[in-house]
Amino acid sequence: MKALILSGGKGTRLRPITHTSAKQLVPVANKPILFYTIEAVVAAGVREVGIVVGDTHQEIRDSCGDGSRWGCRITYIQQDAPLGLAHAVKIAEDFIAGEPFVMYLGDNLIRDGIINLAEEFEREKPNAQILLAHVPNPTEFGVAELEGNRVVRLVEKPKEPKTDLALVGVYMFDRTVFEAVNSIKPSWRGELEITDAIQYLVDTGRTVHSHIIGGWWKDTGKREDMLEANRLMLEDLEPSLGGQIDDASVIHGRVVVGDGSEIVRSTIRGPVIIGANCKITDAYIGPFTSINDNAVVTNSEIEHSIILEDCCIENLEARMEDSLLGRNVRVCRDDSKPRAYRFMLGESSDVSVL
Ligand code: DAU
Repeated sequence: MKALILSGGKGTRLRPITHTSAKQLVPVANKPILFYTIEAVVAAGVREVGIVVGDTHQEIRDSCGDGSRWGCRITYIQQDAPLGLAHAVKIAEDFIAGEPFVMYLGDNLIRDGIINLAEEFEREKPNAQILLAHVPNPTEFGVAELEGNRVVRLVEKPKEPKTDLALVGVYMFDRTVFEAVNSIKPSWRGELEITDAIQYLVDTGRTVHSHIIGGWWKDTGKREDMLEANRLMLEDLEPSLGGQIDDASVIHGRVVVGDGSEIVRSTIRGPVIIGANCKITDAYIGPFTSINDNAVVTNSEIEHSIILEDCCIENLEARMEDSLLGRNVRVCRDDSKPRAYRFMLGESSDVSVL
């Protein structure tokens, strides 16, 4: 079985982070989401991985390389514009070369991986296998209607959903999907929808199996979803303390501190991951926080947040919570006169002040 991982698209809902970075490379528990995806397909036995890339292709190529670090071979497939998930399948036809494959959206995270699902697909050999999950907000997803176990209808982001069963971003297909993606027309939003391609398979009498997943699943398209994914990943954190932690500091619960980091007169209450070469001084780092490499945190409190590389947070009067900071961001208190807020914010930034 091959894998097709989709890492094109625009990432508009994660701006301003995605002005400069691919949304699939935003880290959760200090690891890019896309890396979890590659690990999941490799764990299911896949060795040939195609990654569909768009405008952010260079950054994705630089991060993932040739795949040898995961024991797989990565082929990059350039998509000129994000014309839809089924369009991404269409342009991957040469790479797939008639083999069965798993298509995995590069911004989706599934706790339990896909080993059992891939085995089931290879054993039962349906034309397609989709994953479903009960969600409270089905209007934001592709939604399935079932009769017993049989898929009868799929609708992309319906205004009035008939069920609460969302399509999870992991699909398995045999070669019949190429007939489907070459037969459908773009939707109202101008995209070739994978839901329409699967509906085509249903309508032409092909076997489409569905599987309702039990463990958690996250589409990390928005800040709240990223923070929630970060929280869920940190729940399973294996503690390990590198760097230097002074005697005046207190570490509670599951905490990772990377090499070269210094923790001085601070309290860290896990689950928390702190990357390499960080300096945390007179600070409180609370549960569900991921701080990436080279951060400086001084005289401040942070909880339930994701902080990317090279950030500096100093002398905040109130605790920082529910925040997502991009690379090289500085947030600090400044008492110089005249007293004022001084911002340098990119398009779509979001600031809440006390
Ligand atoms: O997350 C599950 C949902 O994913 C499903 O329930 C929906 O049926 C499915 O359409 C999809 O909806 P989204 O609106 O979340 O898809 P999004 O545009 O965010 O794209 C998903 C991933 O695929 C993302 O990593 C970007 C990539 N992509 C997207 C498009 C439209 C591409 O590589 N090429 C594309 O043309």
